[in-house]
Parts: sequence; C-alpha cells; structure tokens
Amino acid sequence: MVAHSTIKNVPPLNHLAIIMDGNGRWAKQQGLPRVAGHHQGVQTVTRIVDECISHGIAYLSLFAFSSENWGRPQPEVDALMGLLLQFLASQRQRMLDGGIRLRVIGDRRRLSDSVRAALATTEEETRAGSCLTLVLALSYGGRDEIVRAAQKIAEQAALGLVDFKTLDNKQFSTFLDTTDIPEPDLLIRTSGEMRISNFLLWQSAYAELYFTDVLWPDFDAAELQRAIDDYQCRKRRFGLTDDQLQPVSVTDDKEITN
Ligand code: FPP
Repeated sequence: MVAHSTIKNVPPLNHLAIIMDGNGRWAKQQGLPRVAGHHQGVQTVTRIVDECISHGIAYLSLFAFSSENWGRPQPEVDALMGLLLQFLASQRQRMLDGGIRLRVIGDRRRLSDSVRAALATTEEETRAGSCLTLVLALSYGGRDEIVRAAQKIAEQAALGLVDFKTLDNKQFSTFLDTTDIPEPDLLIRTSGEMRISNFLLWQSAYAELYFTDVLWPDFDAAELQRAIDDYQCRKRRFGLTDDQLQPVSVTDDKEITN
C-alpha cells in the first residue's frame, strides 16, 4: 500500500464558460425543427447549472445569444427570446432557493422591452445569491463589448474621470460587461467546432480551451466531468516558465492499493 500525494499546477475551476453549440444539428438528427433543439438545449442548461454547483464552480458563463444571432430567421430569434423568458420564469424560484445569481452581459439595447425587464427583475431578485453566478451572454459579441468599453472610457476621459496615459489592462477591464467577474479558467465548446466565435475575447486570454464533438442537447454530467478531468491535467503557465510555477493545490493523499 503506497501513500501518494499529487501536486497540481492548475488553479481550482472557479469560472467555467461554455459555447453551447449544436442545437440545430441535434434537432435535424432527430427529424425535428431547429427550435426543438433549442428547447432541449434549455433542459441541458438547467442540468449543467446543477452540476456546476455540485462541482463547487462559482461562475458559469453561457453564450446564449450572440450579436450575430440577430441575423437568424425571425421566427427562430422569437423562439429563442420566448425560451429565455420561459427559462427566467420557470427557474426563478430555483435560483432564489439555490443561491444562484443571474448576471447578464451583452448589448441589452437590442433586446425587447419585455426581455430587458424580465432580465433586470431577475438580476435584482437574485443579487444576494452566493452559490453560483450564472452569467448569460445575450446579444453579446466580444468585439462589440470591447468597443462599448472604449466608448465608455472616452466618455469618462472627456469628463476628466479617466486618464488615458495611466489606463492599463486592469482599469480597462472594469469597463467591460464582466466587471467584477473573474476571468474564465476553462472554456468549453460543444458540437465539434473549434473556434471561440467572438465569445469573451478579452476575458479568455488565458482560459484553457476544451472542444467536444457532443452536441449541446446531449451534453451531460459525464461530459462535464470529462472536461473537468482534462482541465485538471493542464499546466497553466500564464506566460511564465515551468520552473517559475508554484504548485497551487495539493490533493488529499490517495492510497494506491495495487
Ligand atoms: C447554438 O446552436 C445555440 C444557440 C445559438 C443558442 C443557445 C441557446 C440555448 C441553449 C437555449 C436558450 C438558453 C437559455 C439560457 C434560455 P445552433 O442553433 O447554432 O446549432 P447548429 O450549429 O447545430 O445549427
């Protein structure tokens, strides 16, 4: 019997970001309309939120509707907005009971009044939630977010509240929609596509990337566990050398019995 302890170079998974892709293909495989895939996608969202809580993940960011998704056929856009409203109504109590805080990132000005109002109400009602922060990216694009941040900075600079000469990464990031939200540790994309499609461009600079062929409606606890296991084996250097890395966590001693 050998006592064995493992030293890891990976920080705990505090913030998981997911590009939920493949709803349309899932529906097509089942011979169903695309919207059925989005319906099923919402079921996956509720399951994965629970799983993240069990894994002790503090932030879960989901790419729910991109700035480019406005170009989809209007009935699909309407269906997605309807699903969002249903999701907020059906999950309200669950969020309050489970300590889930909702945060929304993206350009809300393009959302309808009713969607904007429902989001604002849920954000306000759940603001004390301290178990998991669910960050929904809606009408969101990373480049758009950076441009909007630059515009806000320009406005503040004109008022003498920001000094361009001393502006640095840290201060710039406070003007992003994700202000106060830590950067993602792991970014998952489902459905086999290997790109980040304008999601959290600034924030994902040092995120570990994980791609799976599984379509979002089929993504489940086992798939999440696979991604987390993979993350645990990564070595995050943040631009430093191997020798400079400090072990960040020591797992409990495990007994190896063979
Ligand atoms: C990508 O699949 C998915 C989306 C564009 C929307 C994701 C939305 C949901 C999971 C439902 C709404 C979410 C909430 C939180 C209420 P796709 O349509 O691009 O699939 P495809 O690439 O196979 O066509």
